[in-house]
Amino acid sequence: MNIQQLHLVYFSPTRTTRRILEEIAKGMGQKTATVTDITRLEVREQKPPVFGNDLVLMGAPVYSGRLPKDAARYFSILRAHGALAIPVVLYGNRAYEDALLELKNTAEACGFATLAAGAFIGEHSFSGKDYIIAPNRPDKADLAKAFAFGQKMAGLLESIQAPGDIGPLAVPGQFPYKEAVTRGPMDFIQVTEDCDGCGVCLPACPANAIDEANRYAVRPERCMYCCACIKACPPGARIMKEGFLKGIAKMLSENCSARKEPETFFAGR
Ligand SMILES: Cc1cc2nc3c(=O)[nH]c(=O)nc-3n(C[C@H](O)[C@H](O)[C@H](O)COP(=O)(O)O)c2cc1C
Ligand code: SF4
Ligand code: SF4
Repeated sequence: MNIQQLHLVYFSPTRTTRRILEEIAKGMGQKTATVTDITRLEVREQKPPVFGNDLVLMGAPVYSGRLPKDAARYFSILRAHGALAIPVVLYGNRAYEDALLELKNTAEACGFATLAAGAFIGEHSFSGKDYIIAPNRPDKADLAKAFAFGQKMAGLLESIQAPGDIGPLAVPGQFPYKEAVTRGPMDFIQVTEDCDGCGVCLPACPANAIDEANRYAVRPERCMYCCACIKACPPGARIMKEGFLKGIAKMLSENCSARKEPETFFAGR
């Protein structure tokens, strides 16, 4: 099938989703026409593009077995007229539960034909020096699988004449989806005296939740616990306080250390 352009649309606070989507695109051997990084609030507030005879790689991390709600909201307002999508989720080596199904269903409700889908593994957002969960993933082997997935996609496209040739795509997950976890504001980040005021954490935060005027402290009511600011801080001055989230990080590091591998799914024909 002759696809006009390849587009990437992703939400990726700690960039593992972005890395995998970029590698899939490389494997496809097609130049990427547009990149819509919806991680930042300002971008999510803009009018989304409408896709015609295009292929869209859509990516998001898994948050508590579902899509992050800000990402889900944006994906649900995309519009497609004859476009194809490849939904991809990244998860922190625990489980992706209903997130991939949610992204696939959302894409289809927007009018996309879903050609394939993937669940890949990224270093867990809560992974840090005290509790390590899926460190440095996606690694070389993950990236090779993402590249090969892209290559396979390029081959599949050649064997399809029109979106109508694509059959149903089945991915793991349950509908109705598991109930979204809503946690109240949490004061879980401490800014230590190593903070040199560089300001790197400000643009790293997808929720504009960092208060520059208050020694770069978090405004808990805006925070989505993505930990992007902790990972971006050059001197390591942002750390997880002892408490609920650090307890989860400990539990995950103890129970989710067995390596999980990427999974890919293809539509029937
Ligand atoms: C609030 C929150 C909830 C998460 N829930 C899950 C989960 O249910 N299962 C899992 O394996 N990883 C979970 N993760 C880890 C992320 O899915 C994983 O680290 C992913 O690679 C992050 O993607 P990004 O680098 O594109 O931001 C969660 C992370 C956060 C911040
Ligand atoms: S302040 Fe909260 S939302 Fe912002 S980057 Fe840090 S953890 Fe993520
Ligand atoms: S990135 Fe770290 S060192 Fe820089 S301002 Fe933010 S907390 Fe301070």
